[in-house]
Formats: sequence, C-alpha cells, structure tokens
Amino acid sequence: MDRMLSGIKPSGKLTLGNYIGAIRNFVKYQDEYELYIFIANLHAITVPVSKEELRKNTKDIAALYIACGLDPKKVTFFIQSDVLEHANLSWIFNCHTYMGELKRMTQFKDKSQKLNDSSINVGLFTYPDLMAADILIYDPKYIPVGEDQKQHVELTRDIAIRMNNKYGEMFTIPEPLVASEGARIMSLSNPSKKMSKSDETGDKGCIYLLDDPKLAAKKIMSAVTDSEANVKYDVTNKPGISNLMEIYGALSGKTNQEIEAEFKGQNYGVFKSAVADIVVTTLTEIQAKYKQLMASGEINEIYQQGAIKARAIANQKLHKVYRKLGIE
Ligand code: TYM
Repeated sequence: MDRMLSGIKPSGKLTLGNYIGAIRNFVKYQDEYELYIFIANLHAITVPVSKEELRKNTKDIAALYIACGLDPKKVTFFIQSDVLEHANLSWIFNCHTYMGELKRMTQFKDKSQKLNDSSINVGLFTYPDLMAADILIYDPKYIPVGEDQKQHVELTRDIAIRMNNKYGEMFTIPEPLVASEGARIMSLSNPSKKMSKSDETGDKGCIYLLDDPKLAAKKIMSAVTDSEANVKYDVTNKPGISNLMEIYGALSGKTNQEIEAEFKGQNYGVFKSAVADIVVTTLTEIQAKYKQLMASGEINEIYQQGAIKARAIANQKLHKVYRKLGIE
C-alpha cells in the first residue's frame, strides 16, 4: 500500500469546504492507502487564536475526523505537536528555502495583504517549511488537499528534490492529489472567495460542520446567486449557482450534467431546497456521531497510539537528515 498523509489546522471551526475538499476524500482513500491524518496545531498559531479556542478546535477536529467516517483501525491519527521532530526538520528547511520562494506563496500574499508589516509574524511567512516537514518526514507518496494547498505541496516537492540533490537521497517526492470536484468550495455570500474558517464575509457565507442544521439550511437558502432561473454550471458567469452545484454534486455523487437535467425548468428555490436537504442530512449524521464520541472519551487513546507510531517514523528520518548534513 502506498503511504498518504494530510492534515487540517485547528485555527477555526471546520467548514463544509474542509469536509468536501479534504475529509470526504480521506474517507474514500482509507481502504486503498496507508493513511496518516493529523491535526496541524502548530500551524494554527500563525494567526491569533486564544488558548481556549485552540484547545476546543483541536478536540473538535479530533472527533470530527472520526465522525465524518474515518476509521481508527485503518488510519493513523495524531496531533502535530506530539511529534517534536516536525519543528526540528522545519528549521533545516528554513535554511534551504529562499525568501523569493516563500514570498510567491499565494496564501501568504493573501493573508499578509490584509495586515501591515509590523503585524505579520514570521511564522506566517515560513509556514510552508513546516508543512514541508510535516510531509517529508513520513515519506508519503500522495498528499490529498484542496486547491488552495496545492502550491504548498509543490514547494514541498522542490525542497525534497533540492535536499536529495545536495545531500544524497533522503526524501520521497510527494504528489498533491486534488479531487476534480469540490476542491474549492466558495463562500455562499461572496462566491468569488473561498469558503473559509476565517470568512470575512461573516458567518453567513460559511457552513460549519457543527452548525445547527436548520441554520445551515437557512444559509443555503439565502446564498447569493444570479437573476436567471437556470441551473447551469458556469463558474465565470454563474459562480453562486456553480458553487451550490459543487456542494450538491459532492454530497449526492451526481455529475453536473445530471444536476442540470434534474432541475431543468425549475426555479432556484427548488434547487436550493434540494441542496439544503442534502446538507442537513450530512450535518445531522456527522453531529450525531460527534456527540457520541465526545461523550465516550475514546479519542485520547486513539491519538496517543497514533503519536507513538508517527514518532517512531519521524525520529528515524530526522536522524537520517542530521547525519546527511553533518549535524550528527
Ligand atoms: P486548512 O486547515 O486550511 O484546510 C484543510 C483542508 O481543507 C481544504 N479546504 C478546502 N477545500 C475546498 N474548499 C474550501 N473552501 C476549502 N477550505 C479548505 C484545504 O485545501 C486542505 O486540504 N496548511 C494546511 C494544513 C497542513 C497540511 C500539512 C496539509 C499542514 N501541514 C501537510 C497537508 C499536508 C491548511 O492550512 O489547511
């Protein structure tokens, strides 16, 4: 079985975008790959977050991964900070990455544009080096991510190739896996922006996995669309409707063509109700499992066992790198 790895940062509440663009795909992959899934809590502090919120978000993700259908018997789960080697390796990468490369990262450009120089922390800038360390320390072949993280995985490949060329073979070159559908779910209130944990358009544009399903349905019903009454996939001219089609398609398994045929001649209200129904069903199922897991206390044990397994691999790799560089 090929190894696969991915993670989510607990910097806010998990969104329907995280589910459709990431977790839903992990669930599909768990039978075909040796899958490592972690919580990127060290990444979460690149933006301001209170300790209470960080703890709560971490705990929520830990339970939500499993509530969304990932099976602890098949997947190794762990928390990034439980494996100290990630941060050690990221320092090595800081010393092998160039300012120009990190300045080109779209996510850094987007986030830093909103801040002035004195409020951008260095961690936000070097974040892709920590992400490269998260990945390369385990030698995975595939990294399933949404569209917005693809550039970071590409930089990770460049770092791996550079290190292998300079010091001799030490890292597997990973490949990003971006699903053809649902890789970029947009905000419901501004479909030109990604649906995000820190949505500036406010909570109306973003559905959280732990939203009251009734509230989620309301958000879908008031999603921004166009003035035609034609359910048709056209991202340029009909971004709102296309986004709702992405959501509906991802959750129902239907293709855009099938969706267009299903709602031919119908008004947007009918289509939105169908999207709302399937979102409500999805959230209700996830939340029932989540509540049960939060009450049971079995999560801690699962993550502790995962950390033991991850640490063994990461420690060996870090020492190999240290030897190659002459640190040991
Ligand atoms: P994060 O926490 O921002 O997002 C987690 C995953 O969800 C995907 N995603 C989306 N997909 C579709 N539509 C959206 N609106 C949407 N929003 C988010 C992201 O693409 C991602 O796959 N840096 C990473 C976490 C990370 C990581 C790693 C991932 C740290 N180290 C190593 C893979 C491997 C991040 O901030 O993702």
